[in-house]
Amino acid sequence: MEKSNREKKIKKSRLMLVGARGQLGCDCQEIFSPLFEVESFSSDDLDLTRPDDVGVAVLSCRPEVIINCAAHTRVDDCETDSKKAHLINAESPACLAAAAKGCGALLVQVSTDYVFAGERELPQGYVESDTVAPVSVYGRSKLAGEEAVAASGCAYLIVRTSWLYGINGHNFLKTMLRLVLNEPEKERKVVADQFGCLTWSRSLAQQLLSLVESGKRGLYHAVAEGSANWFQVASCFLELMEVEHHLVPCTTAAYPTPARRPANSILLNQKLKNDGLLLMRPWQDDLELFVSRHRDRLLKEAAKV
Ligand SMILES: NC(=O)c1ccc[n+]([C@@H]2O[C@H](COP(=O)([O-])OP(=O)(O)OC[C@H]3O[C@@H](n4cnc5c(N)ncnc54)[C@H](OP(=O)(O)O)[C@@H]3O)[C@@H](O)[C@H]2O)c1
Repeated sequence: MEKSNREKKIKKSRLMLVGARGQLGCDCQEIFSPLFEVESFSSDDLDLTRPDDVGVAVLSCRPEVIINCAAHTRVDDCETDSKKAHLINAESPACLAAAAKGCGALLVQVSTDYVFAGERELPQGYVESDTVAPVSVYGRSKLAGEEAVAASGCAYLIVRTSWLYGINGHNFLKTMLRLVLNEPEKERKVVADQFGCLTWSRSLAQQLLSLVESGKRGLYHAVAEGSANWFQVASCFLELMEVEHHLVPCTTAAYPTPARRPANSILLNQKLKNDGLLLMRPWQDDLELFVSRHRDRLLKEAAKV
């Protein structure tokens, strides 16, 4: 009897982690596991192009917290397959929210800076109460996901982040490293007129944990402090990696992509600051730590591809 009471005391809350194989999902797995009993879902376990499957998965998991890190994140591909983008980024979060409400779970829905049009004058950024006006299918689908979660009546945290990188999965920094290592002499154009907040997925996972533990609810921005353009972040990363490179700044117009991207998607952590919950550090500090931890693995991976 005494033993089962003791066991009860240390019983961890159940957490359903959706999108567990992505950049943020992998870091959430590591950060939340010591404190929660995490059940992880990849697209093999739960395919979000089939939102009808979501309710059953939640029922079988019976979580107290659901973290949704899954998304159709290929911004350009979303333009040509808006149906898929909508299923994964909007309808599935709506079903997660309905199921969360049904079982009394907290839903953490991760969203994006691309819900903003990006026309604000630099260096100003966007706070949580600013008007949204996405300019891409990806942005519109993610916004529809936010709206469905907020309207569902479940307990929720919607956390907008931006320009994510991590050691797991694919990202802009890894792509730049691979390109530069393959052809060190070649001049590479990098867009210098889009500004945002480069954010380490591990820091975001830590911020999500502190938000969940705080008992706060609602909409938050969570990005690294400070802002830069793609050229600046690529240059800073390659210098920290001590890799020879020849980057040249270029305009968005010189590097056309299927999806429009906001010129200024700088987010401000206003609510985290107001609530005394801010853990996010300057982006340069995080990038330095990331490189010092992962330099060898990054070089090995980039050489392999
Ligand atoms: N990456 C960024 O720069 C960025 C910027 C702003 C906001 N965000 C948001 O931050 C969150 C995390 O982003 P991330 O960079 O960690 O994403 P990521 O590395 O691209 O991972 C996304 C995950 O979504 C899952 N997924 C995709 N299609 C799915 C489907 N049909 N069914 C189930 N799962 C599916 C994938 O699962 P499998 O691997 O199992 O197939 C993948 O692991 C997302 O909500 C994203 O919108 C990202």
